[in-house]
Formats: sequence, structure tokens, C-alpha cells
Amino acid sequence: MATSHALLLFCNLAFGLLALSVVVESSVVPPDYAEVDHVCSRTAPYYDKFCKDVLESDPRAPGADALTLAYVAFGLAHRNASGTRDQITSLLSNSTGLVRQHLERCRGYYATALANIQEALNDMDSKTYGRLTYFSASLLDRAKDCESAFKGTKSPLTDNNEDLKGFSVIGVSIAEELIV
Ligand SMILES: *[C@@H]1O[C@H](CO)[C@@H](O)[C@H](O)[C@H]1NC(C)=O
Ligand SMILES: *[C@@H]1O[C@H](CO)[C@@H](O)[C@H](O)[C@H]1NC(C)=O
Repeated sequence: MATSHALLLFCNLAFGLLALSVVVESSVVPPDYAEVDHVCSRTAPYYDKFCKDVLESDPRAPGADALTLAYVAFGLAHRNASGTRDQITSLLSNSTGLVRQHLERCRGYYATALANIQEALNDMDSKTYGRLTYFSASLLDRAKDCESAFKGTKSPLTDNNEDLKGFSVIGVSIAEELIV
């Protein structure tokens, strides 16, 4: 008796969910990520997943043109690198000796990276795209600089540096869109 009630309940639920999913599926138009796909395809094989995850996280991404996507990408890169800078500041408050020296070098590299991202944003405001590739590519170098500052010891910033590399590769791909 209990079993058949449970079964009935289950069937009702299952049918309800099925009906609901049909309604939802037919009413939701999939977002247009054509430009995201295009930009991210050039970041394969290492960063295409990162690229899509990052860009599609922004509400401006669906249907975006290349310039909008550039603002999304460099804006997110700026926020990300600022977060890392804050993380470095907090790590510095509790470190001494060599680790402290390594962290101080990384703080400098991230300050440079943030300045480059800001310059890219300023250039975009004045519709000047010629230096975007350079600014984007230099982010990769700063990420590598920070990673190698810890050479021989465990870096607490490896994930952050990987993220900065990802933003660099995305920026280079978007710059290519804007320069043509
Ligand atoms: C940077 O972005 C990545 C990918 O979205 C995220 O996982 C990471 O937590 C971000 N880091 C900071 C410091 O905001
Ligand atoms: C400072 O570092 C020590 C040792 O790693 C740790 O136990 C402590 O929680 C840290 N303090 C802060 C404020 O991060």
C-alpha cells in the first residue's frame, strides 16, 4: 500500500517535471554566444574553457559585438588582477624573509599588469586599438615573472598567475578582432 502510494507520487512528480521541462525548453531562447565562441576558439587548446566560463559569466556577453566583449574582458581582467593585488597585500601582512621579497616582486608585477589593463581600457575609450595586443601580451609576461619570482619555492599565487595568463590570451584574441 505504502509502496504503491509512493510509486504514484513518484509518477506524478516525474510527469510534472517532464511537462515543466517541455514548457521551459520551448520558451527559452538559447543566448547568442557567437562572438564569444569566435573569440574563445582562438584561445584553444589551453584557455578556451576558461575564456567561455569567464566571458559567459557576464550579462553583457550574449549578443555582444567585439568591442562590447573587449570591455567585458578587460573589465573582468582588471577586477581579477585587483583581487590578486589585494590578496598579495594581505599575504604580505603575514610574511617575512624570502617569501616577503617574492611577494613584493609580485606586487610590482601586478601593479604593472593593472596599469596595462587600464591603458587598454583608456585606448578603447578613444577608439584606438593598435596597442591592445601589446598590452594583452604583456600580462602573460607579468604572470610568468610573478611565478618565477618564487622559483624553487612553492608559490601561493600560482592559480592567480594562471588566471592572469588566461586573461592575457583572451585579450590577444579580442585585440585581433578589433584591429582588422
Ligand atoms: C579570477 O578569475 C577566476 C576565473 O573566473 C576566478 O576563479 C578567480 O577566483 C578570480 N580571482 C580573483 C582574485 O578574483
Ligand atoms: C599568519 O601565518 C601563520 C602561519 O602560516 C598562520 O597560522 C596565521 O593564521 C596567519 N595569520 C593571518 C592573520 O593570516
